[in-house]
Amino acid sequence: MTNILCIGAGYVGGPTMAVIAKHCPQHKITVIDINPERIAAWNSDQLPIYEPGLKEVVDIARGRNLFFTATDIDEHINQAEIIFVSVNTPTKTFGQGAGRAADLQFWEKTARQILRNSTTPKIIIEKSTLPVRTAEAMSQILNTNPNGLHFDVLSNPEFLAEGSAIHDLENPDRVLIGGHNTPSGQAAVQTIVDLYANWVPRERIITTNLWSSELSKLVANAFLAQRISSINAISALCEKTGADVEEVAYAIGTDTRIGPRFLKASVGFGGSCFKKDILNLVYLCEMQGLTEVAAYWEQVLKMNEYQEARFVANMVHAMFNTLAGKRIALFGAAFKANTSDTRESPALIVCRELLDEHADVVLCDPYALENARTDLGAQSSRVTFELDPYQAAKGAHAIAILTEWADFAALDYQRIFDAMAHPAFIFDGRNILNHQALFEMGFNVYAVGKEPRVKFNAISS
Ligand code: NAD
Ligand code: UDX
Repeated sequence: MTNILCIGAGYVGGPTMAVIAKHCPQHKITVIDINPERIAAWNSDQLPIYEPGLKEVVDIARGRNLFFTATDIDEHINQAEIIFVSVNTPTKTFGQGAGRAADLQFWEKTARQILRNSTTPKIIIEKSTLPVRTAEAMSQILNTNPNGLHFDVLSNPEFLAEGSAIHDLENPDRVLIGGHNTPSGQAAVQTIVDLYANWVPRERIITTNLWSSELSKLVANAFLAQRISSINAISALCEKTGADVEEVAYAIGTDTRIGPRFLKASVGFGGSCFKKDILNLVYLCEMQGLTEVAAYWEQVLKMNEYQEARFVANMVHAMFNTLAGKRIALFGAAFKANTSDTRESPALIVCRELLDEHADVVLCDPYALENARTDLGAQSSRVTFELDPYQAAKGAHAIAILTEWADFAALDYQRIFDAMAHPAFIFDGRNILNHQALFEMGFNVYAVGKEPRVKFNAISS
């Protein structure tokens, strides 16, 4: 039995280790975190994150070969042969590179903690997303140990998407492992290849040098976000020209060179990764003097901010240039469907802007209301949190769909329309509703990248 440790029991550490434990009963997997409440939740029936299929996987392995603990951390570190580091690496908010560079303080503390507590050699795996050449710094810190212990540092970035994390971990498009081209580095890579080969076909396990692996993670997210910003840019043009962005996306996506996925126009992309990782890429380029390359990728973020701002501006304009005192039901708080995560959620950005307009905002989401309340901080006292969409929409002047939860598409909109203030508006930021049917019910319908279906024209501002 190999002792495997994961430092960081978050959205990545928890699900990833649960899937490894499920497929590798021969290994003991321990997950530690500095947050005892998170660990307590992992040990309870109310897991700290909502993720379809996660509970089932945890139930298989927890207590058998999967353990979550917040105590005896030093001893767990010492006993581990393989350590995955999956701590948060948010954007730096202070000092040099503030607002752009990755904040590596949690990560570096982990390296020093490993160093302090190790009496045996170990393989250390960067699971967190990190700037290129971070592994070099980690190696330098670890290999300063006075006992001459050897540490192999590998990069094994995680590509799971929230909401489909278990599916993505069970059937990854690829697993990427980067290591040094030394005998010990390659032996460490082989150990991790063998670990994943317990359930991932060998041809999907890619090995590269360390720096390619670290960079590939940032580039994958930058390319994915770029596709969304590209189609969102076109959605603005569609709204001006009478083209329909879904028809355009379908028409271009059938070209096998382009492909159909990640072409869904929306209110904007959110989540803890895209913005942070692109900022990180931009900062790296700037540090290398690649100003044009940095500006190119930064534009992906600017387009996303434009899309979010445009969505709110459309609401204000359509509703006679004033939202003050109007009840507006926001359907969705999570940054995407099937997750309770609200980090960088466009729904909360829209919510804040509507509060600035003095709207009376009601936020409705099946799983993300608690996180939304925390994220909104002091502003949460001005928001009504409502689980039931029918209650949320009662008396409202408008509904905005901000998360593509399937439940929101299946509601009885005639019943909702009847209970709303009139004229009733619906702004579909995810294009999940039947717009023609809503229009025929009496709604004024605004959808992303489509000509509005309205009973009367908005007053010019
Ligand atoms: P998270 O904030 O949910 O979890 C990180 C956890 O690490 C927290 O629970 C925190 O308490 C813990 N932690 C911090 N310092 C610690 C220490 N010294 N010892 C023990 N625990 C410590 O973050 P996340 O979403 O799981 O992301 C983790 C990393 O994975 C980030 O680098 C992120 O960019 C990357 N990533 C995230 C996703 C995603 O979808 N969330 C996907 C791929 C990669
Ligand atoms: C992303 C990457 O997909 C994943 O590989 C990486 O490991 C972490 O970052 P995640 O942020 O969890 O995953 O979700 P993702 O499905 O990529 O969606 C990100 C955002 O883009 C969401 O707000 C989603 O609603 C939005 N999106 C996605 C669109 O607006 N249109 C699309 O076509 C796809």
